[in-house]
Amino acid sequence: MPSVIVLDPLAQEGLDLLDAAEGITYEVRTGLKGDDLREAVSQFDGAICRSGVKLTSDVLTGKSKLKAVVRAGVGTDNIDKDAATKAGVVVMNTPAGNTISTAEHAIALMLAMSRSIAPAYQSLIEGRWDRKAFMGAQVAGKTLGIVGLGRIGLAVAARAKALEMDLIGYDPFMSAERAKQLGIELVENVADMLPRVDYLTVHTPLTEETRNLISTEQIEVMKPGARLINCARGGIYDEAALAEGLKAGKIAGVALDVYPDEPCTDSPLFGMPGVVCTPHLGASTEEAQTQVAVEAVELLTAYLSTGA
Ligand code: NAD
Ligand code: MLT
Repeated sequence: MPSVIVLDPLAQEGLDLLDAAEGITYEVRTGLKGDDLREAVSQFDGAICRSGVKLTSDVLTGKSKLKAVVRAGVGTDNIDKDAATKAGVVVMNTPAGNTISTAEHAIALMLAMSRSIAPAYQSLIEGRWDRKAFMGAQVAGKTLGIVGLGRIGLAVAARAKALEMDLIGYDPFMSAERAKQLGIELVENVADMLPRVDYLTVHTPLTEETRNLISTEQIEVMKPGARLINCARGGIYDEAALAEGLKAGKIAGVALDVYPDEPCTDSPLFGMPGVVCTPHLGASTEEAQTQVAVEAVELLTAYLSTGA
């Protein structure tokens, strides 16, 4: 009988499906590390994770029953895929379940940053009624640059359009014709959009090409007073360069949900004026977590039952 280990917290709907899956047994064992993790994983046929657990080469290599891992979410950066392939372990993800929630979070951060929602509330609860300190910026009529026009980038574009923003996009796999249909002006590279955008948001994976996509050199050519959002992966923006850009008054705001090393509690940006940050909450809605949990269980149980 195939067995499954759940390595990170999974929505109840996913666990209910595992309960109902005939011929499958499962255990929930979260927070495992090192030898405990390796030992546990090796005893199960399938594993389900989110981003908390790190499935490194050490964990995946050696004598093991493991045949498949499903990531309940998009990014599989916490799984060493080369080691998994060598060990004959299939890696799957659930790419669409959290698209809308993450796009909504990017828009929420853009608006929160533009209207100083977090510091204004903090000032209020500290006993101040300070209307002058929090002059904001309206997003309607402003230009939003979107790097990465995949599932989340396009969902952000649709929402920003409804907010009456002008859109410029870059994605090597998007055709100019399709972009035009979607109301997005497609440019040939990121550098072309930088002097024109009031807001910049990135929705790509972290790759050699996207690491430090925005650093000192790029900030220098940005429109003065631009605001930047990252709900994709930490490391796409160079945080030290963003902090310098804010200090110099070159950029007006930064909104981050993701960090180069997570969990992160000491970014150079934390506490700076114009900054709003959340602890990787893009996909943290009831709806998204239910959807990715259900999809992850369906994928894994189908694979373990039929091998497909
Ligand atoms: P996707 O695969 O649908 O879209 C990614 C897009 O990026 C693709 O269209 C691809 O062509 C494009 N791209 C790749 N390299 C590029 C480059 N160098 N320049 C421009 N475009 C490039 O993925 P998605 O579902 O839209 O997810 C986007 C990112 O968001 C991923 O990194 C994912 O891990 C992250 N994510 C974060 C959260 C969160 O909680 N904050 C939630 C879900 C996804
Ligand atoms: C993802 O890649 O799906 C996100 O980062 C969300 C998550 O980790 O839950």
